Amino acid sequence: MRPQRRPRFQELDAMGLPEERGRSGSESRGQEEAGAGGRARSWSPPPEVSRSAHVPSLQRYRELHRRSVEEPREFWGDIAKEFYWKTLCPGPFLQYNFDVTKGKIFIEWMKGAITNICYNVLDRNVHEKKLGDKVAFYWEGNEPGETTQITYHELLVQVCQFSNVLRKQGIQKGDRVAIYMPMIPELVVAMLACARIGALHSIVISWNQGIDLWWHELMQEAGDECEPEWCDAEDPLFILYTSGSTGKPKGVVHTVGGYMLYVATTFKYVFDFHAADVFWCTADIGWITGHSYVTYGPLANGATSVLFEGIPTYPDVSRLWSIVDKYKVTKFYTAPTAIRLLMKFGDEPVTKHSRASLQVLGTVGEPINPEAWLWYHRVVGAQRCPIVDTFWQTETGGHMLTPLPGATPMKPGSATFPFFGVAPAILNESGEELEGEAEGYLVFKQPWPGIMRTVYGNHERFETTYFKKFPGYYVTGDGCRRDQDGYYWITGRIDDMLNVSGHLLSTAEVESALVEHEAVAEAAVVGHPHPVKGECLYCFVTLCDGHNFSPKLTEELKKQIREKIGPIATPDYIQNAPGLPKTRSGKIMRRVLRKIAQNDHDLGDTSTVADPSVISHLFSHRCLTIQ
Ligand code: WT7
Repeated sequence: MRPQRRPRFQELDAMGLPEERGRSGSESRGQEEAGAGGRARSWSPPPEVSRSAHVPSLQRYRELHRRSVEEPREFWGDIAKEFYWKTLCPGPFLQYNFDVTKGKIFIEWMKGAITNICYNVLDRNVHEKKLGDKVAFYWEGNEPGETTQITYHELLVQVCQFSNVLRKQGIQKGDRVAIYMPMIPELVVAMLACARIGALHSIVISWNQGIDLWWHELMQEAGDECEPEWCDAEDPLFILYTSGSTGKPKGVVHTVGGYMLYVATTFKYVFDFHAADVFWCTADIGWITGHSYVTYGPLANGATSVLFEGIPTYPDVSRLWSIVDKYKVTKFYTAPTAIRLLMKFGDEPVTKHSRASLQVLGTVGEPINPEAWLWYHRVVGAQRCPIVDTFWQTETGGHMLTPLPGATPMKPGSATFPFFGVAPAILNESGEELEGEAEGYLVFKQPWPGIMRTVYGNHERFETTYFKKFPGYYVTGDGCRRDQDGYYWITGRIDDMLNVSGHLLSTAEVESALVEHEAVAEAAVVGHPHPVKGECLYCFVTLCDGHNFSPKLTEELKKQIREKIGPIATPDYIQNAPGLPKTRSGKIMRRVLRKIAQNDHDLGDTSTVADPSVISHLFSHRCLTIQ
């Protein structure tokens, strides 16, 4: 049962967009399309982007998508031909079991094919594609002016040297190497060197005295040629621990061949990559976004990227846009949390830089509230850049639901449609697939090449976490709504859903309503035990600079939620939160917030909280009575 309410985002049509039109003049012409019958508005891809795009229309996307899910072996087989294989796949291109009732879960793409991912992203680009002198990374340090760059040829030499260092340390194929380094080119070198010698890399956050060794001491005498270790497509490439926003971290294992195809292909199409691009993904390399879209995806395509060591607010809040201008960045990829942070400081820090080079903007990590989407689009992208809201997970290796810049009409807050090879479905609690307009569990019906293969050291946990609840499907753990146009809207983690008097509410919709208030920069909502309703809403709000927390404001916020969602969603508690507990990748840890609301100090694993001091502050300022 759901509360009756107006379709979401209609209010944005009334409030946000006419103003946008007024402000932007002719720039937005042809982009904005009113949906019929009061549907949420969509924004067409700008014609100048479509004209040169790999996928220039929605119809073309649909044709390619249909082929990719109906004939996955042929579709990915064609893509595999662009890579170097020492031995081609000798047997079936894809074999899998997604159904726990039929036996062990397994996924094998191109098993028996022999390759090396480092060879593909470096040697192939230098020798075959003659990209040796092309810049692979412009590195920008935390201090402005602290910069360096590295070409594909130089990267290859350093990777060979470090591969030799690792081999000299006795590291062999299948060994696991923990890497502890800041966002510097040497981190990319270290990852690729592991991949070159067939060792698994695992990027960690703490230094291990006595075991760990210093880079410069080892590199001095290393030779600059190194034969790659030839690996099976299904050999493990790396282990990455998930951010732990919902529980104990899991070691997600990705393999060489499928991951290579998937990150290369998603990078090419989702950012509509062309040779002259300068790509910038702001994510830390230690997270999957960095693995896939700082290291492997861009390098597999021979792209030039920016690698940034610093933070968006140093030395001031216009740092990102000054870097965009400095390197003439064309495609920019960041997280909603960064957008909301910068939004607080207004338009001027952005608009004082030209940003004329920008063509496509991307976001990842959590649902982007329409308010932040519209600001990103209007201010950062000056109304001319499509926004790719990419939904995916550490487990999926690469993008799953996403617009394509030249093809997909966008709706603010929707990750739109599935990428090639991706077959989503929405299930109800009994596991039935829902057709048309619907809301429920987001699952995937068939494997794509980048799917994780196991949880490191615990295959049973892999099966239990992702395949047990609904046999035959990969379960994302996210809630999702499909609208009347077939667009997918992520509503947040199922575990975080709110159940008020039997009405299910998503965190994303309540938080979005709060953030639409001019005083609120960021919001997090959790369920809290209530004797009558079962659960009530406990909200944490971070205010914009210049706004004060007051009883008047809490009344306004309650009213706002009542009007936008319905009386059922009226919060019982609203707490002022100068900071929220987040993972290092910027994800709000609602699990921790639920405990804070209940004054339960048994927080479980908090090793991934970026700034633990915010937790004690929130505990000591809890709301004690219903407001
Ligand atoms: C979870 C995965 C994907 C790399 C970074 C995070 C949420 C991610 C979106 C989006 C709505 C999103 C989901 C997902 N999420 N992107 N565009 N819209 N939600 O990786 O730490 O493995 O987290 O992040 O809840 O399951 P992760």
